[in-house]
Parts: sequence; C-alpha cells; structure tokens
Amino acid sequence: MPTKLVLGLQHGDEGKGRVVDDLVQNWADVVVRFQGGGNAGHTVYDRKGNKFVTHILPVGVLSKEIINIIARGCVVDIEEFCQEVADLNVQAGSNLSVSGFCPIIEPTHKIIDRLKYQKRLGTTAKGIGPAYSDFYARDSILIKDIVNSPAESLIKIQTKFFNLQEKRAQDGESLEDLKPDFDLFNRWVSNYRKMSETVGLYRLNNENVLQDYYKKDYNILLEGAQGSGLNIYSDNYPDVTSSSPSIGGALNSTGLNHKQIDEVIGVIKSYKTKVGSGSFPSIITDGQEKILAQVGQEFGATTGRPRQCGWLDLDEVKHAVQQNGVDHLCIVKTDVMTHIENPYFFVHGRNYSLTKIKTVSAFDPGFVELLNQIQLQTGINNLSYTTGPKRGEIVWYLNYNQNRNLKE
Ligand code: IMP
Repeated sequence: MPTKLVLGLQHGDEGKGRVVDDLVQNWADVVVRFQGGGNAGHTVYDRKGNKFVTHILPVGVLSKEIINIIARGCVVDIEEFCQEVADLNVQAGSNLSVSGFCPIIEPTHKIIDRLKYQKRLGTTAKGIGPAYSDFYARDSILIKDIVNSPAESLIKIQTKFFNLQEKRAQDGESLEDLKPDFDLFNRWVSNYRKMSETVGLYRLNNENVLQDYYKKDYNILLEGAQGSGLNIYSDNYPDVTSSSPSIGGALNSTGLNHKQIDEVIGVIKSYKTKVGSGSFPSIITDGQEKILAQVGQEFGATTGRPRQCGWLDLDEVKHAVQQNGVDHLCIVKTDVMTHIENPYFFVHGRNYSLTKIKTVSAFDPGFVELLNQIQLQTGINNLSYTTGPKRGEIVWYLNYNQNRNLKE
C-alpha cells in the first residue's frame, strides 16, 4: 500500500518535477496534484524526451497508462486547464480527472491579484490568493457548480466582476484603464459554456477514489507544488503562497490519512533560490550568485522572472524535515555547484565554506562533505541525488523500479 509524497523543502523551484518524473517513469500508478494552481511550473517529458511545462496538470499526464488526479486542494483556472489539455493532447475519459470540489479561479481573482498583490508580494498574478480567499470565505464557485449549474454560476461570476469594475471606477480609474479587463472578461464569457463543458468531461466521478486505489495497492504519488518556505502557515507570512505545500496540505486535499503516507521525499537544491518579495539569510552577494543563476537557468517557469540565489540553508531544510516527517532527501542540481570556486552552505545562522565540488560522485571529497553535512544537520540518512540535468541522471538510494502495479 505505498503512497509517496514529494515536497519541495525550500522556496519552490527545487526541481520536484524532475524527481516526480522519474517516479512516474519507474514507479507510480497514480499521480495527484494536491495544492496550488497555475502558479506552479512543472517540467514533464514525453516518451521521446521532448520537454513540456505543466502548470495545473499533474506530471503524469503524458504517460497514458498513469492515472492523474487534480485533488480538491487545488484552485483551477478553467481557461488554462482547457489550454493545457489541448496542448498536451490529454483526451477526456483517458487518464486525467479533476475533483468537482476544486474552486475555480475566476477572472476577477486574476484582476485583484494583479492590482493588489503582484507588486506588494511579488505574486505570479495567476489569481491564487484571491481564489483561496473566496474559498475560505465560502464564496467559491467549484468545478461541480460550473458543470451542474453553469448559468447560475456565470451570473455569480459576472456579478463579482461588475462589482469590482464599479468599485474601480468609483476609486477613480478611467474607462480606458478598465477596458482591457472588460475585453478579456467578454472573451472569457463567450468561451465559458465550452470551457465548462470541457472541464465537465474530466470531472472525477468518485471523490473517494484514492481510498479505493490505496486498498487495491496502487502506487500513489502525491505531487507537491511550490515549497515549505512558501507555506501559508510558515513564519515567512505574508511572503508566501496561499496554499499549504506540506504533509498537512496533502492530507486535507486527498482524503488520505497520515498512516497511509509511507514515505515523504523532500527535494532540495544544493543551493537555494527564491522569487517574489522578501529576502533570506543565505543570499549570495559576492558575484557567485550570477554563476548559479546562469548555469542553473534560474528563471521562473511560470513568469520568467530571475530567481535570487543563495547557499543551501540547512536550518530551513531541517525545519521542513521536522514539520513534514521527511524520510528521504533528494538533492538536485549539484552539477551546477561544480561551477562554483568557493562554495558554502548555511547553518546555525551563518555561512560555512565547503571543499570545492569537482564532480557529482560518491568519490568526490567536496560532494561527500556536502552529503555529510546534510545528513548531520537534518538527521536524514536516506539521500538520493541527481548527477546532471538529463532525464535518468538520478541516483536513488533505493531502486523504485521493482514493484509497479498497473500494466503498461
Ligand atoms: P502566488 O502563489 O502567485 O500567490 O505568489 C506568492 C509567492 O509565491 C510569490 O513570492 C511567488 O513568487 C511565489 N511562488 C508561487 N508559486 C511559485 C513556484 O511554483 N515557484 C516559486 N515560487 C512560487
């Protein structure tokens, strides 16, 4: 009855997509996205190795034999959903379902995010925060609402939009300022029927299905988005996202219980990156950050924004390990660190120098020192790591390839 949970333990962009992709290829029968929305950007590959980025779809969608579920803790932009299924040719009735209880991201949510939070908090402007606000206020329109009563739902969506536009006009915005949003909204409304019908074709027809899969011994992979440092419940509030990329978030969203999670895999980069507002203690300012950014291609997959770079913060990782009951760490992008002449890591509130890492191998003194420090500071002995950027360049401490259940 194995269920694995993959979480990012830093500030998002750890390379979880990579790790999930490997587990999809070699182990998983079912992949579940459980929080966030189009703010995520996960890299997926088809069988020929072509690269794609998904935002709301789980990483398993390109593998037809894998069951993919978007669970109710996610907020869904139906326009983006329809676009992604079309782009990736994911047919309705094949291997993707979305919970009827997912709140939708309405056009109004995106406008509020852009006007109010994008500058203030550096959000992705995908409407995430305002959509979750409505959810917790119990004002959300859910996927099942637009499927079961599309006309009624549309009236609510329109009312919210017109109320906002009216308020903006009262606050002094000119009609010219408002026009682009009216145009976008009108286009959205003209596609609404088609979009709600399309989404309806993918609707999950059994909300308890994960318990059934669990009983049938399917290998279930819970795919986290973002990372611990962005958890709404973290000390970094308000420089966080509006969901919970944590074991708690996974349980709430999926309806699995804590005893049904067999292994929590935490993904960390061998350095740290962050986009959006707020600094962090291990930020690099001696010029080496530019090398990490360039070699590591540290630009957001969703927004294209440059990421700030810093040394691996083991205080942060240790905290995330404790809070999520992490069993196993997967360390990625150490090959990027081989380009750094004077590497450091950060722990107990300060930087410590590391021996230069020449190659990512168990025989390289710099790499071994890094692994030792990670083990020492976090107490986690099960360490896996990637050796390069390509698919398959990953050394697992266990071989997951052995007990897949579904037939290909
Ligand atoms: P929001 O999730 O769009 O509300 O943005 C809130 C914060 O989370 C901002 O600092 C974003 O840059 C950050 N964020 C959201 N999604 C991601 C992600 O997938 N990777 C890295 N940062 C993210």
